[in-house]
Amino acid sequence: MNNPINQRESRRRFIKSGALLGAAALLGPARVLAAEQGETKTAEVTPTEDLMKEHGVLRRLLLIYDDMGTRLKEGREAPAEVLKEAIGLIRRFVEYYHEKDEEEYLFTRFNKAGKLVDLVQVLYAQHQAGRQVTTRIEEKLIPARFSQAAERAQLAAYLRAYTRMYRAHAAREDTVLYPAFRSVISPRDFMALGDLFEAKEVKLFGKDGFEKIVIQVADLEKRLGIYELAQFTPKA
Ligand SMILES: [Fe+2]
Ligand SMILES: [Fe+2]
Repeated sequence: MNNPINQRESRRRFIKSGALLGAAALLGPARVLAAEQGETKTAEVTPTEDLMKEHGVLRRLLLIYDDMGTRLKEGREAPAEVLKEAIGLIRRFVEYYHEKDEEEYLFTRFNKAGKLVDLVQVLYAQHQAGRQVTTRIEEKLIPARFSQAAERAQLAAYLRAYTRMYRAHAAREDTVLYPAFRSVISPRDFMALGDLFEAKEVKLFGKDGFEKIVIQVADLEKRLGIYELAQFTPKA
């Protein structure tokens, strides 16, 4: 147990683990993973980091839905154009991009591995339900409807249904589904998927596509007066 060879081996392991921890701090998990695999290829953003960034955009769109819902309930000015543009972003970025990637590249792998199958089933059903609610929201924006109090109240209820479901949905994905993803995919495929997600983002939204989407969301926030982050800080 304490012979010199074992001592040397344990010291070697200690130095190696220390070196890896140091590398982790400097390089981030994807690059360390590559280093551990003896690969030179690196992924700037892992697929789960990418998906979580996209959840950040979704959460900001939910804040826009919150504000529109409050305006409708309180009878304040509620700019339909802002809501229309927010719905456009929900469709293009969340429903036809983020969710499609989850369904095609994550849900299929969990189902194939027989892991978190019940959760994946609920998440998939919520994607379908979300798209249906988006259609209901769009229908309420027809001017003849948007001008009626009863229709506006119904629209506020749809907005609330959407935000309530997606806050729970994204939180469950962030804390349960995404952390488990590495258990159903090889390290090599995990890294390759990061590159694929990046390539898809460029193809669909252009160079710096994510940043451009964030600018569009920020513009909608500014038009509603909810852009300044400090306004969300409670007064002492
Ligand atoms: Fe999802
Ligand atoms: Fe998601």
